[in-house]
Amino acid sequence: MAEKHWKIPKVQAPDYDREQRGRIAAYEEALAVQLSAKPARLEHSLSVARTAEAMAVLYGEDAYEARVAGILHDWAKAYDDDAQRARAERYGVDLGVDPALVTNLYHGMVAARELPERWPELSASVLQAIDRHTTGAADMTPLDMIVFVADGIEPRRKDVQGIRRVREMVERRAPLTDVFWESFRNGVVYVLQTDRYLWPGTLSTYNALALARARG
Ligand SMILES: [Fe+2]
Ligand SMILES: [Fe+2]
Repeated sequence: MAEKHWKIPKVQAPDYDREQRGRIAAYEEALAVQLSAKPARLEHSLSVARTAEAMAVLYGEDAYEARVAGILHDWAKAYDDDAQRARAERYGVDLGVDPALVTNLYHGMVAARELPERWPELSASVLQAIDRHTTGAADMTPLDMIVFVADGIEPRRKDVQGIRRVREMVERRAPLTDVFWESFRNGVVYVLQTDRYLWPGTLSTYNALALARARG
C-alpha cells in the first residue's frame, strides 16, 4: 500500500511580483545544481520551502522570505562532513567543542555566511533563519520558527508521533511559539532517546525557552 503523506495545509497562494518569482526560480535552479548529487536533499529543500511558505501565509508572516529561506536552508549540505567543518572554521564559527561532535550543526551557519557572496540581495532575516535552522535559539523570530518547524514537518518526513503532533498544531494554527517549542523539544528528546551527544548550546537554549515559558 502506498504510504500516505501528510499534506501541507491549503492556503491562498501568495501574490509574488515578477522580481520575486524570478528570484525564486533562480534560487531553485541554483540549488538543483548545488545538490545534483543529492536528489533526496533537493526534494526535501523544495518541500521545506513550500511548507514554510504555507505556514507564513497561515501565520501572517512574509511568505516570500519563508519560501526563500526554505529553498536555501540546506545549501551547505552539498559538502561532505570534512568540507562543512573546514568551511565553518574558515568563517570563524566556533561551537566551543570538538567540531567532530557537532558536524550536523554547521551547515546552516556555513550557508548563512556563504550565500550572500553569491546573492547579496538575501535579507538579514532570511540568512538568520537559515543560520538558526539546525540549533534554534532563545530569541527566535517568527520567520526563524517557521523555517525551523517546516524543516521538521515537511511532507517527506515520516509521520511519527512527535512530528504528527507538530503537524496537528500547525493545522489548527496553534501559537507559533508553542509549535516551535514542541518541535524544538522533540529534537532534544530524539537526541536523548538515541543516546547521541547533546551540544551544550542546545541545552542552554532549551533552558532559556523552558524558563521563558514557565514565566509566561
Ligand atoms: Fe538542515
Ligand atoms: Fe533540512
